[in-house]
Amino acid sequence: MKVLLLGVTGNVGSRMLPALLAHKHQVVGYVRTPAKISPEARSKMDSIVVGSASDSAAIKAAILSHNCDAVVNAAGLAAMTGWTSQGEFPAIFAAVVQAALEAGRERGGAPIRCWLMSGFGAMDSPKKPYLLIDYLPLFPIHKQNYQLIKNQPADTLAWSLFCANAMSPKHDKPRFPPSADTSASNLVAKADSPPAWVGKYRTVPLIGNYLNVLAQAQSYAAVLDNCTDFMAADLEKGLESEWIGKRVAVKEKSKVH
Ligand SMILES: NC(=O)c1ccc[n+]([C@@H]2O[C@H](COP(=O)([O-])OP(=O)(O)OC[C@H]3O[C@@H](n4cnc5c(N)ncnc54)[C@H](OP(=O)(O)O)[C@@H]3O)[C@@H](O)[C@H]2O)c1
Repeated sequence: MKVLLLGVTGNVGSRMLPALLAHKHQVVGYVRTPAKISPEARSKMDSIVVGSASDSAAIKAAILSHNCDAVVNAAGLAAMTGWTSQGEFPAIFAAVVQAALEAGRERGGAPIRCWLMSGFGAMDSPKKPYLLIDYLPLFPIHKQNYQLIKNQPADTLAWSLFCANAMSPKHDKPRFPPSADTSASNLVAKADSPPAWVGKYRTVPLIGNYLNVLAQAQSYAAVLDNCTDFMAADLEKGLESEWIGKRVAVKEKSKVH
């Protein structure tokens, strides 16, 4: 696919670029600070568009003028608590969604395929209708972003939310191609609720669910390059992906007991 990648100068975006290339996608980078792009990364991209990720019209123009079929948003950063400013991230998320939606509508035909970075708390908790974020209120903006997109029909925007826990890169710098010991095959994945979730503390009254979430959340920390490979591999399936219209979380197979 031809992918518009936002946030290519960041942690996630810089690893997403080699992952997308390894899966034979063409990449158009969308950046606000082009000086931060390494010469190597620059040479690998089809083109680079300079702009703000909160500028919906500019993102839409980039999608349409470069004939992109897919968008990956790794721009912006969620604030850890609700006590501080949420910064630009809510505006970025809304702008990317609106741009992809309108671009799909204007060009006609198939909707734009979209992977949007989100957080682990946006997954369902064991007790519906709560989200994990309702038990562990960190990175609260992911709930608002999920509310914004959840009723969006997949035939107008083929979205998926990657609901990541902490992700650590395998190496200090992105590698082209990604290092051979990183792959989506190291992960298990699931939609809606986290994969390999264990029903602990069920019998503890009142605080059982809190204890369960607290006890398990950190075991979902993953290798960033495995996660980027997961999304890049999935984009090869285009609109046949099983993850369209879903929140998706992953767990390292090495942590599944
Ligand atoms: N890293 C993790 O462990 C983790 C875990 C869960 C979820 N996430 C989510 O994944 C996403 C990416 O995280 P990250 O760790 O890669 O963050 P990061 O390293 O801070 O990168 C953020 C990227 O967003 C770009 N950006 C910010 N505001 C922008 C704007 N207005 N216009 C254009 N680009 C803009 C930055 O560009 P500049 O270089 O110009 O600043 C940078 O490329 C975030 O939504 C984060 O919440 C990350």
